Amino acid sequence: MKLHAVVLAAGKGTRMRSKLPKVLQPIGGSTLLQESIRAFQSLRESQDGLLTLVVGHGADQVKQALPQLDCNWVSQHEQLGTGHAVAQAVPLLGDDDLVVVLCGDVPLLSQETLARLIHAAGPESPALLTVVLEDPSGYGRVLRDSAGNVAAIVEQKDGNDEQLRVKEINTGIMAIPAGPLKQWLSRLGNDNAQGEYYLTDVIAMAVADGYAVTAVNADNAAEVAGVNDKRQLAEAERVLQLDYARQLLEQGVTLRDPARFDLRGELQVGSDVEVDINGVFEGQVTLGDGVKIGANCQIRNSTLGPGTIVLSNTLIDSARIGDNCQIGPFARIRPDSELADNARVGNFVELKKTRLGPGSKANHLAYIGDAIVGANVNIGAGVITCNYDGANKHLTEIGDGAFIGSDCQLVAPVKVGPGATIGAGTTLTREAAAGELTLSRVKQVTLKGWQAPVKNKK
Ligand code: UD1
Ligand code: CA
Repeated sequence: MKLHAVVLAAGKGTRMRSKLPKVLQPIGGSTLLQESIRAFQSLRESQDGLLTLVVGHGADQVKQALPQLDCNWVSQHEQLGTGHAVAQAVPLLGDDDLVVVLCGDVPLLSQETLARLIHAAGPESPALLTVVLEDPSGYGRVLRDSAGNVAAIVEQKDGNDEQLRVKEINTGIMAIPAGPLKQWLSRLGNDNAQGEYYLTDVIAMAVADGYAVTAVNADNAAEVAGVNDKRQLAEAERVLQLDYARQLLEQGVTLRDPARFDLRGELQVGSDVEVDINGVFEGQVTLGDGVKIGANCQIRNSTLGPGTIVLSNTLIDSARIGDNCQIGPFARIRPDSELADNARVGNFVELKKTRLGPGSKANHLAYIGDAIVGANVNIGAGVITCNYDGANKHLTEIGDGAFIGSDCQLVAPVKVGPGATIGAGTTLTREAAAGELTLSRVKQVTLKGWQAPVKNKK
């Protein structure tokens, strides 16, 4: 059967108390919706499945947020219930499809569990993903007959005392053959406590029509937990992060505290990588062998070569860092920067769109922007490239082995020749010759007999 996921994502998510539609709430650098379909997307790669998203609240915003998604979009203008939501997708369902109903707010579902559910279903057999909860309140309960076969689902608000004592609940995720599903959906009514068209009612219809419904048990409650409010969102985020941390620990990474580690993208690591607390990794990050990341660092879309050490409170964004570099503490490496091997950037140094050659150093309080710096250059404390004239950005070029004294301003466009020395406090506006000392400095004077001011008497 052809897999066809129908994802319910039309609900408002009132309990989030947010202008952002619930399914676009962030989790793990992604969104609830993207995480909720991740397991299906992986299965779909090998099985050529279809994906249909049912949207309603904030539909345009949801569509715009996922422009690359290969899927059908279906609108549910009024939220009349989960059965009504699936019914909106009926025109797109082939009679031989296996419809996999997913919820846009269940972000931790594993591929293995979803595969087990799909495996249990077939043309004559709907399958239901269930889980046993110590406290099942709020969920639909799975009712079984005297032989233990699934008979129906009853919602919390419709159940009697005996039914509500059942601890096996409907996760909302099911796999149902499309042919009979279309029949059952067309027969749904809304004569129930919430006045909604319940998808769950198709289970009793299936049984009445002689189908055997299989209940597949989820591995754990967390993977099928729905996210309705910010507390559940935070809980799901931490479950996800602890799972990422566990995978990295298994790869041999040292995490000083797995509970204080955040990955919002993908992290590739070599051997003997160490990450201190409060590391935040975003986008695509690669850490070579032996890389050490200090506390409170944020690293986004960057590659760090083997042996590089990043000291605490450092930000690195869209940069390429060579081997055996040292960065921080309190450094900021902005996009399009490149550090060659053995380069060093120290505290309160900002780099933007700058290439720092091998062995070059900017160790204290500097701003280097739009610059090409050669090998073994020493940039003193307080050096600033004046790269912006108020209208355009200009380039600063510094040759190999140059020495830039402290507190210099390099007014770009400007060049410093190889081996040049720039005296401390210089405002450089023209090219500095290779191998020579260049400085601009007001002559020092001492005023003899100068008297310090004395405070006035009142
Ligand atoms: C539903 C199930 C319940 C199950 C629970 C698991 C029904 C009737 N009940 O209850 O058995 O235990 O999920 O979490 O199915 N949605 C739409 N359009 C609608 C209504 C809902 O797209 O008209 C979407 C929501 O955005 C959400 C999902 O469907 O993603 C579930 O809807 P919700 O109202 O949360 O259902 P529950 O009452 O939690
Ligand atoms: Ca729900």
